[in-house]
Amino acid sequence: LGQGPLNGRHILVTSGPTHEPIDPVRYIANRSSGAQGTALAAALRDLGARVTFVTGPATVPPPAGVELVRVETAREMLAAVEAALPADAAIFAAAVADWRVANAAARKMKKDGSGAAPALEFAENPDILATVSQRKAGRPQLVVGFAAETHEVERHAAEKRARKGCDWIVANDVSPESGVMGGRENAVTIIDSSGAERWDRMDKAEVARRLAARIARALGANGK
Ligand code: C5P
Repeated sequence: LGQGPLNGRHILVTSGPTHEPIDPVRYIANRSSGAQGTALAAALRDLGARVTFVTGPATVPPPAGVELVRVETAREMLAAVEAALPADAAIFAAAVADWRVANAAARKMKKDGSGAAPALEFAENPDILATVSQRKAGRPQLVVGFAAETHEVERHAAEKRARKGCDWIVANDVSPESGVMGGRENAVTIIDSSGAERWDRMDKAEVARRLAARIARALGANGK
């Protein structure tokens, strides 16, 4: 591995969706390809970081040259994140399911012929970003969350930053007319303690490179 501004740094990245089982063959999930998290992990690796990449079942392949931890559920993701700490920075790009199925069945659910549909009960999943942001001991120096919003992007992202206790929120507009969801490009706004920084629409790989450089600067590396 070559020299880079993040040499000797450990950075944790979560990515992809989580799958929450209903029974052994069915699940609920969020829509997430894992593209932005994967691109970000690759960009951080390219700056010399040791990257732990904790990913749910994403549709894009994970990057090479990272410590890969595959998980299914939000609770598994939290456990993998806590096992990977300490880290200098933690970037939470995963689209975690807010709820899991509380009455998941151990065996495949069958139609019983009566026409009655099963009722799912939900339980709240742990908020991984908030849990790590609010750690008393061993909190990473920099904690970054993402926010996908369809309207009033900046206001909602700033509220999310305060509520979760993270340092930055990378907010994007995922309204249907934005074309960001599943697309190649992204238009992000970075919310930090000094306000909002709006970036032009660009390729997700370019967003990743610029974010990685900003992270390197924040960690006090000579990233620029
Ligand atoms: O609250 P919301 O899901 O919109 O927040 C998004 C941010 O929080 C993302 O960074 C996501 O990875 C993180 N998150 C998490 N654990 C959850 C829910 C969201 O880490 N259970």
